[in-house]
Amino acid sequence: MDGVNHSVVAEFVFLGLTNSWDIQILLFVFSSTFYVASMMGNSLIVLTVASEPHLHSPMYFLLANLSFIDLSFSSVISPKMIYDLFRRRKVISFRGCITQIFFIHVTGGVEMVLLMAMAFDRYVAICKPLHYLSIMSPRMCIFFSVAAWVVGLMHSVVQLAFVVNLPFCGPNELDSFYCDLPRLIKLACTDTYRLKFMITGNSGFFSVLSFFILIISYIVIIFTVQKHSSGGLSKALSTLSAHITVVILFFGPLIFFYTQPSPSTHLDKFLAFFDGILTPFLNPIIYTLRNQEMKVAMRRACRQLVSYRKIS
Ligand SMILES: *[C@@H]1O[C@H](CO)[C@@H](O)[C@H](O)[C@H]1NC(C)=O
Repeated sequence: MDGVNHSVVAEFVFLGLTNSWDIQILLFVFSSTFYVASMMGNSLIVLTVASEPHLHSPMYFLLANLSFIDLSFSSVISPKMIYDLFRRRKVISFRGCITQIFFIHVTGGVEMVLLMAMAFDRYVAICKPLHYLSIMSPRMCIFFSVAAWVVGLMHSVVQLAFVVNLPFCGPNELDSFYCDLPRLIKLACTDTYRLKFMITGNSGFFSVLSFFILIISYIVIIFTVQKHSSGGLSKALSTLSAHITVVILFFGPLIFFYTQPSPSTHLDKFLAFFDGILTPFLNPIIYTLRNQEMKVAMRRACRQLVSYRKIS
């Protein structure tokens, strides 16, 4: 393909979420609050896990990794969106658009693998407790973090390889507030039928598959616990319900975006807003709310931060 030569579109214009000034102000308040809160919550988790030696276990390492990814994910979408709320013409350069897509898919891919690693970690801890230390060794943890990044990068590069050379020659309005593939390829002046198929295959199939693997593994864990001990069930359920909630929050919107043939509804935008702004904020809350150990450690880390600031 010699598509590069045909591209005349140098920038894309976001139509944004709404034209109503009142709703824009409401969105501004909402999204900046949630963005700041999710930055603080997730950084606090990363800092707490790093600074507390007794939290140096696979479960908390994975949680810290997940928080780091949530931080990066919301930083790809939120700041630009918040800045754009008050601009009449919400533009993004072609490169900016491709960069956004690249990071959205890297972080999305990493997060999927991390959620699977977390499910595996709980499976081993609950169903094979005697072998926990030998299976979830430091080596295994490093393997999971490296695998997550390799999968995320590969997933993203493979998809973009098909898109960077597409010819964009005419319309450049994206009915959204960030760049993503399903909407972007609708603007290409070429037949994108096979491309749509590839994206549905890559992102859609990938997310549906991981979602089912995760849900099935949680069901297996619950059944195993139920069979072996009646007392352990309620404790396991409280941990697992947090995991399952996060999995549904993460995959629900994804599956909706990537398996739909033509995204255009308001529900779609609402879900995108929810996914980009709210989910990264909810993850740390869901994981720490029911975890006493984490709550105590976070309080201690907060006190340390405050006293450190007083001294310096
Ligand atoms: C991610 O996990 C690895 C080990 O699995 C750990 O060494 C690293 O500190 C974690 N990263 C973050 C940001 O917590």
